[in-house]
Amino acid sequence: MADAGLVRHMQLEGFIDEIAKRAVNYIESSEDKSVSTIDYVSYNSRQKTTDLKLPLEGRGVDRVLDDIDEFLKQCVRTNSGSFMNPLWGGLNVTAFAGEVISALTNQSMYTYELAPLATLIEQTIIKRISEIMGFSDGYGTMTTGGSNGNMLGMLCARQSILPLSSKIGFDGSKYAAFVSSESHYSVLMSANVVGIGHQNVFKVACDDKGRMNPESLVEEINRSKSEGLIPFCIIATSGTTVRGSFDPIRELAEIAHRESLWLHVDAAWGGSCMFSSKYSHLMDGVDLADSVCWDAHKMMGMPLICSAFVVKNKNILRNICTHGDVAHYLFHEDSKEVDLGRYSLQCGRRNDALKLWLAWREIGDSGWAKMVEDYCHLAQYLEEKIIQNDHLEMMSHRQWSNVCFRYIVENEELDLNKLNTEIRDRLFREGEYLVSRSNIGENVILRPVISNPMTTTEVIDGFLQRVIHHGNEIISSIPENQ
Ligand SMILES: Cc1ncc(COP(=O)(O)O)c(C=O)c1O
Repeated sequence: MADAGLVRHMQLEGFIDEIAKRAVNYIESSEDKSVSTIDYVSYNSRQKTTDLKLPLEGRGVDRVLDDIDEFLKQCVRTNSGSFMNPLWGGLNVTAFAGEVISALTNQSMYTYELAPLATLIEQTIIKRISEIMGFSDGYGTMTTGGSNGNMLGMLCARQSILPLSSKIGFDGSKYAAFVSSESHYSVLMSANVVGIGHQNVFKVACDDKGRMNPESLVEEINRSKSEGLIPFCIIATSGTTVRGSFDPIRELAEIAHRESLWLHVDAAWGGSCMFSSKYSHLMDGVDLADSVCWDAHKMMGMPLICSAFVVKNKNILRNICTHGDVAHYLFHEDSKEVDLGRYSLQCGRRNDALKLWLAWREIGDSGWAKMVEDYCHLAQYLEEKIIQNDHLEMMSHRQWSNVCFRYIVENEELDLNKLNTEIRDRLFREGEYLVSRSNIGENVILRPVISNPMTTTEVIDGFLQRVIHHGNEIISSIPENQ
């Protein structure tokens, strides 16, 4: 028996060692210039060339390691400093450890009974984020992301205007929500789920810096009323997806209070500004809002998923998550006040708070402040390089670490949208620098985002050099008379 136990132990240790070795190689390869960020292979050929079959008979543990190797080989290297495409990147090793421990211990967050310390840790995170937002008695829950946080915000707004709606339902056709024309698409999905429908989300015009215009908001509210709708919710964005713009929350709150509307703030991307005394003014007035969502899996660099939703009035969240007392197999009277499952729309739920708690304790508030300021400083470096270069043009005022620009030429005949689309395609096929291709109005732009601890001035210089190289090459390949 003892021998069998020893063999099992050695097998387990050997397997875990193999995984650990691969993790270390993968992490360290983020600095290896010979490894590309993306090795583009089309969907069809990847499907043809990868063994994906689920076998009748198991293939054994050694083949598991082969499958892991193949997976690691085919991944987009989101931990490379050249990965500046979405609003996140890099790898926080402490948070990675937290993620491993969460999977290892597999606590489900619905009850204190089954997730004792994890419950206290999540409550600590939620309380701290509530305090940061100025909600001294706030409460909340970890969610699956900003999309879900926006949906919860809209659902709370519905509950606030129709306190019985969670029980008797909701006639969505009569209600109107208001968001900036540059808000995230998840707001439309929220409108669908909450029951008001896309067409009752009013997109409010922004100023030239991408911020919701308060006067236009008032006009839209009045227009909705004249069309027979009942306004119920304003969603402000702190850090828009493309430009990184921050809506003027204080002014929007004044309108929300005057009109008795719920004010939710989508701070999925920009929420981290609250750590820095230099940038927290971007969310001035957030304490006047009713709810906020914040993705720690964006700028704070937590591995997906890690996101918080906080609300000023705890009871509203409790009411939208109410399920009566039907789940007698899970929830009991004596733990009513501590079970997080009474404040979530999920049943089984991952322990997403642990990694954030570990990382937060490691670096403290001051570490997050430094992170924000370093990223914005690097974004400023990129902006300055763009301004100094005659081939490049900033396409929006920069408020945050989104840098929106394009390659330009002095030839009015040339279609700059096509040119910039082709530059981005070439960057993508080349496989080193990954940035988003987005639109501002009618214009195609390139949008690198600084939100990755591995991104440096050297990476930025190399990236701009490749943009100019591809731009020049495309121009020189066009026949003279075109
Ligand atoms: C402003 C904004 N809100 C919400 C979201 C959605 O967040 P998630 O991907 O965590 O659902 C995003 C995603 O990029 C975003 O940029």
